[in-house]
Amino acid sequence: MIVVIGSINMDLVLRVPRMPLPGETLTGGAFRTIPGGKGANQAVACARLSGKVAGAQQVAMVGCVGDDAFGATLRAALVGDGIIDSHITTLPGVASGIASILVDDHGQNSIVIAGGANDLLSPAHIDAAQGLIEQADIVVLQLETPMDTVVHAIKLARSLGKTVVLNPAPAASLPDGVLELVDYLIPNEIEAAMLAGVSPDGADAKALAAALQKLGSDNVIITLGSKGVHAALYGGDFTFPAEVVQAVDTTAAGDTFIGGFVAGLASGMDEAEAIGQGQRAAAWSVTKPGAQTSIPHLHELF
Ligand code: RIB
Repeated sequence: MIVVIGSINMDLVLRVPRMPLPGETLTGGAFRTIPGGKGANQAVACARLSGKVAGAQQVAMVGCVGDDAFGATLRAALVGDGIIDSHITTLPGVASGIASILVDDHGQNSIVIAGGANDLLSPAHIDAAQGLIEQADIVVLQLETPMDTVVHAIKLARSLGKTVVLNPAPAASLPDGVLELVDYLIPNEIEAAMLAGVSPDGADAKALAAALQKLGSDNVIITLGSKGVHAALYGGDFTFPAEVVQAVDTTAAGDTFIGGFVAGLASGMDEAEAIGQGQRAAAWSVTKPGAQTSIPHLHELF
């Protein structure tokens, strides 16, 4: 089983010809609400990319939604993808997380988040999910829920002998000692630079990965967008070029990569094969609009 611990957002998406300047009003395209949130997107990607082999991976999500219409829709979307929702808590009197997203004509996005219920995911919720985490092979986390909860969950997962995957997004620094508990750290360049304590300008992916390995993470996989992926693994350093595609919307491309990679590992692929599956899925996702609306099923990739 794969357990994903993290955020669940409703994305409020507007297409714009270009990003507005401060004080400027622009006319956008059609407005859409699309299920998102880094945690939920990664859970959906794990589920859709797990394949139909014997013993196909089950995916469970640990997180919080509010008792509003968005919360009900977000839970239903996850259940619709076969994701176990027994440890998604509906919090009374709290708004579900939302992300306000502008997407420009080049497919680039700009995102502002109101965490809502995600900000109330607590160490107690993680403890309540211990039975579920005990069944996991791989536990996946991000940083859109409180840091003390993320750290608590990482420590619990490690103490139970689970493989821990951390996507340190959005960029934040981590308490000392946390990277030593992470088996696979999957940042983008900006997040990697922040964790390594250097400027992202001109930072070299190989040097960043080496610095993060030195800080304790066994394997570091840096996503570089159209430049591909740089992976510093036990077996050495590898660069995986990206597929060339026409990007419509890059929202959740990183989440799709992580889901494809984790699903690949869970189904017995080696790291290089799993990275390839993640890249293929992410390349597909940027050709479609939205977060969970853009995540492929395995059969759509081959
Ligand atoms: O990674 C993309 C996600 O970031 C969006 O779905 C949005 O909800 C934000 O969490």
